[in-house]
Amino acid sequence: MQEELKIPRHIAFIMDGNGRWAKKRLLPRKVGHREGVAALRRMIEECDKAGVGMVTFYAFSTENWTRPQEEIDALFKMVSEFADKYLSDYVKRGYRIMFMGDLTKLPADTVAALKKILEAAKGNNGMIVNIALNYGARDEILRAINTILASGVREVDAQTVSDCLYTAGLPDPDVIVRSSGEKRLSNFMLWQAAYSELIFVDDYWPDFDEKVFLRILQEYSKRDRRYGNVRRID
Ligand code: IPE
Ligand code: IPE
Ligand code: MG
Repeated sequence: MQEELKIPRHIAFIMDGNGRWAKKRLLPRKVGHREGVAALRRMIEECDKAGVGMVTFYAFSTENWTRPQEEIDALFKMVSEFADKYLSDYVKRGYRIMFMGDLTKLPADTVAALKKILEAAKGNNGMIVNIALNYGARDEILRAINTILASGVREVDAQTVSDCLYTAGLPDPDVIVRSSGEKRLSNFMLWQAAYSELIFVDDYWPDFDEKVFLRILQEYSKRDRRYGNVRRID
């Protein structure tokens, strides 16, 4: 008998392995990233079908600026195209769209494309699609600390910090999924990950499809979330 699947409220993906996916096929890394965008779209569809409330994708880290300029340029060109071609469609479906990270460092045309989407999505109340661009958890936490210092408060609690993160008011990820077999967080949502379930999948990101998504839900459903207690708390 099929066990009942638990659907996470918030699922976050560390999209990794585009380069290796391409290398395996003797293709340029750029092609891997293009296929990575297709996988991202597939995962948005799966999350919506499953009834996930919020999905986060780690698309570009604060450390990814160390990559060759040509790759960086190709990535942001893809982000702009993705915004024009697909995010605009998601906006029409009623999804709430957000971007977390320091967008001021992004190419001007990409920023313009993202702003257009944010403007159009105002007032939507569907599934939250959150894309991390020039995002780093340490950078996010430092910004929060500086905001708090500037406010002049003398005592800080966990809620105060949470309220100053990009994800203020939103649920922490129930599960963080990383593709391509790497078992690390690479500066992703370090504060919010305190009690996230971690799932590491060997498949490269461009290979993520309906079957991989189902495996993830099955694995997540088996996890016993205790939050320090002695029994499962859902
Ligand atoms: C993930 O794939 C995409 C980004 C980090 C932008 P990678 O480009 O890291 O692929 P690998 O890890 O080199 O295979
Ligand atoms: C993590 O992937 C960042 C993103 C998915 C955007 P990386 O490929 O940059 O991570 P490392 O370098 O293997 O830790
Ligand atoms: Mg990588």
